[in-house]
Amino acid sequence: MTPTFAEKIAGAPKAELHIHIEGSLEPELIFKLAERNGVALAYSSIEALRAAYAFTDLQSFLDIYYAGASVLLNEDDFYDMTAAYVERALADGVVHTEIFFDPQTHTERGVPIETVVAGIERALAEGERRGLSSKLILCFLRHLSEDDALATYSAALPLFDTYAHRLIGVGLDSSERGHPPSKFERVFAQARERGLKLVAHAGEEGPPSYIYEALDLLLVDRIDHGVRSIEDPALVTRLADTRVALTVCPLSNLKLRVFDDMKRHTLKALLDRGVAVTINSDDPAYFGGYVNANYLAAVEALGVTDRDVYTLIRNSFEAAFVTPRELDAFIAKLDAYWKP
Ligand code: ADE
Ligand code: ZN
Repeated sequence: MTPTFAEKIAGAPKAELHIHIEGSLEPELIFKLAERNGVALAYSSIEALRAAYAFTDLQSFLDIYYAGASVLLNEDDFYDMTAAYVERALADGVVHTEIFFDPQTHTERGVPIETVVAGIERALAEGERRGLSSKLILCFLRHLSEDDALATYSAALPLFDTYAHRLIGVGLDSSERGHPPSKFERVFAQARERGLKLVAHAGEEGPPSYIYEALDLLLVDRIDHGVRSIEDPALVTRLADTRVALTVCPLSNLKLRVFDDMKRHTLKALLDRGVAVTINSDDPAYFGGYVNANYLAAVEALGVTDRDVYTLIRNSFEAAFVTPRELDAFIAKLDAYWKP
């Protein structure tokens, strides 16, 4: 039997470039780790926690997301969280993933950054042996000061050596409005000097000017979200011409009310204008699905075609931080599977 479009998408080899590992923490694991670590939660049950996932905007989500992450204390906790994501990624046909983590969420609770990275790394090394290639990107929390980001960067410096094969870049996340990329120019300049890859959330809730700042002041290699770029035609043309990729997360944008209806999502319009759009899950435990669910949501609401999906998946590999040799191997794998 020929597979349905949904089955074809589900089985396709793909890269995921925008996943916060703390956002993969499912309610069941939150409760398990809370019990294991003796951490008190503000919710009486898994169901009560899940019922609280009715977000009105980015900040309403972040408040719960940081509460969920409070159960992570020991290396095994970071390992368990990442191992669970590895299973989900493999099940969705992901062959390469670039994972964000938020060290400041943990260091401010007294968890050493070395503990965080060691646990994540152990699960990713296992994933690698099972066919999931992966990289790690350290994100600065933009609601905190740049001095805090600089201190975090300094503390992480030895890790960029120890885990050079995995830890390849820095990013910028958390509350966007009122915290423009320009606030982090100095720390991004240091990371750039070191040759690290650079990404930043911009144009999720924030205006197109934040995308310009990320491009012109931080000199990022990719923009996370960037869906509000559509408001500025010159910016769309620039993104298309330069092929600076957008890591778009449809279910996240719907849940956080960036768009009130998936039918109004700008992903297809950006793709049609030649922007290097990719599809990702952002915080899958909170937004109702892992990467394949995000592809399907776009297909169902936006009339994304067979050729569009091929392009989106191809974009995911072309925008990945991999060597030309690795890229060739990924594209060959995709082309052997998908004949548009
Ligand atoms: N941290 C986790 N998910 C995020 C998102 N969608 N935007 C900004 N920061 C985040
Ligand atoms: Zn994100």
